[in-house]
Amino acid sequence: MHKATAYHDALGDHFAEHAGTSPYNAYTDRPAMLRLAGNVSGARILDVGCGAGHYAAELSARGAQVVGVEGSATLLRHAQAHVHGQAELFLHDLEEPLGFAADASFDGAVCALVYEHVRNRVQLLGELRRVLRPSGWLLISTTHPTADWGHFGGSYFSHDWRDLPIGDRQLSIHYQRLPLETFLNELLAAGFVLQQLIEPRPTADLREIDEAAYNKLHQAPSFLAVRLQRP
Ligand SMILES: C[S@@+](CC[C@H](N)C(=O)[O-])C[C@H]1O[C@@H](n2cnc3c(N)ncnc32)[C@H](O)[C@@H]1O
Repeated sequence: MHKATAYHDALGDHFAEHAGTSPYNAYTDRPAMLRLAGNVSGARILDVGCGAGHYAAELSARGAQVVGVEGSATLLRHAQAHVHGQAELFLHDLEEPLGFAADASFDGAVCALVYEHVRNRVQLLGELRRVLRPSGWLLISTTHPTADWGHFGGSYFSHDWRDLPIGDRQLSIHYQRLPLETFLNELLAAGFVLQQLIEPRPTADLREIDEAAYNKLHQAPSFLAVRLQRP
């Protein structure tokens, strides 16, 4: 039996409590990904692993019609409270096909800091390709392989599943570290076209709030983010 990767119970509550203000999520990953999304007004968007609903709320506020799926019942509850009925959210394990979605039924999909948790990534990418319309876009952010190398050491080229302690260190997240080569080639092998790759740095407003975090995240990347197109 595989260890669960969805953020259940206390881990879900911890993520929900911090995702709104964390230097990593609120000031680095999310602003970068939302910039990559561009104008989403009128777009139908799938939020893949919607967590506490921060993306779903923001994309809805920008005029998108959002469907979000999440594997943790704890986080789904947080997300529902967050979006105030502005997005359709439901429980779904991303190791399973996206059977709820018709072919070519989405203009875009956002998969923020979820990809590295998923084992059956070939299936997930195939399903995302199926549910996106031709010329639809897919945004994926993930942990930067050099950040993982710093956390876990060993070989940069390791594909190990690891546990990264977070918060008070009694909690940890479980994911697979991937070299850049593996990450990018999986996306290309699934038939997506790479349009843009960025190594997000925090926005200027973090400097006022937490200068140490701002400086740290400007020195070494935590995340990678890509914009892909479904041909
Ligand atoms: C780092 S959080 C990111 C959440 C959200 N995308 C954001 O950026 O705020 C990772 C999310 O992936 C979800 N997740 C991990 N494995 C999953 C799976 N197999 N099925 C569905 N969700 C999963 C977790 O429960 C968690 O909400």
